[in-house]
Amino acid sequence: MKKPLLEVRDLSIRFGGLVAVAEVDLELNASEIVCMIGPNGAGKSTLLNLISGIYTPSRGSVTLEGQDITGWPAHRIAAAGIARTFQSSRLFNDLTLLDNVLIGMHTRTSTGVLQALLRPAKARAELESAAEQASALIRSVSPHLYPRRHTLAGALPQADRRRLEIARALASEPKVVMLDEPSSGMDDRDTDALIADVRRLMAERPGLSFLIIEHDMRLVATLPDRVAVIDYGRKIADGDFSQVRLLPRVQEAYLGQKAANHA
Ligand SMILES: Nc1ncnc2c1ncn2[C@@H]1O[C@H](COP(=O)(O)OP(=O)(O)OP(=O)(O)O)[C@@H](O)[C@H]1O
Ligand SMILES: [Mg+2]
Repeated sequence: MKKPLLEVRDLSIRFGGLVAVAEVDLELNASEIVCMIGPNGAGKSTLLNLISGIYTPSRGSVTLEGQDITGWPAHRIAAAGIARTFQSSRLFNDLTLLDNVLIGMHTRTSTGVLQALLRPAKARAELESAAEQASALIRSVSPHLYPRRHTLAGALPQADRRRLEIARALASEPKVVMLDEPSSGMDDRDTDALIADVRRLMAERPGLSFLIIEHDMRLVATLPDRVAVIDYGRKIADGDFSQVRLLPRVQEAYLGQKAANHA
């Protein structure tokens, strides 16, 4: 059987007495979209932080294309091909859209500071070509952002900020893109556009895979190949959404949240 692109085994982390992620197994194949759902505080973002190297797991492993990347620093994991967005926006508001995407490309450009000083013409040529690529990337992620590429990111409405974050994640030419609640702050129309954007990006980039944390059930019902449900740090279900949603333990996890919200 073919090895998955990304393989998470027995992944666990504890913060003091709290086990935030416990013994999670998760697989993501090439050209696959997996959505991760679960109540607030279930451990979804922490799982992304473990995979992307922001936290070091207390147990378990993360493997990318057969290579064990457990415990690697975040910048090395990014360079190896795992890109991500954050639940709360991390754009540079005082930079243009183009510069925000250029920053995402820095793992790929070869010119360092010293080289830029010694060979300014080469550095400028490389920067110009990177700027062209960043422009093309903005256009491919969201045609309507493209005319605004020279404006400041701080002026963008929420839905466009989410789009720009996806463009920046793609700038490192990743194999896996992890999105933490990309539709938050989006209305139904923006969410439909997001679904279409992700589908188009996958069609344009053979092999690219997405791991998406989502609360919007319309997106979860239509976009992914598979859905993994996290509750109290554990994966309690994994499969087709139409079946997963009917499982009593999944319904109980969400009912528990409703009860807590109304308490
Ligand atoms: N750095 C940390 N130190 C201590 N506790 C943490 C830390 N990060 C997360 N936690 C705790 O781990 C648990 C899981 O949090 P996490 O943010 O992963 O949940 P989530 O599923 O992403 O929730 P939401 O849907 O609200 O974003 C929570 O109880 C949270 O308070
Ligand atoms: Mg979260």
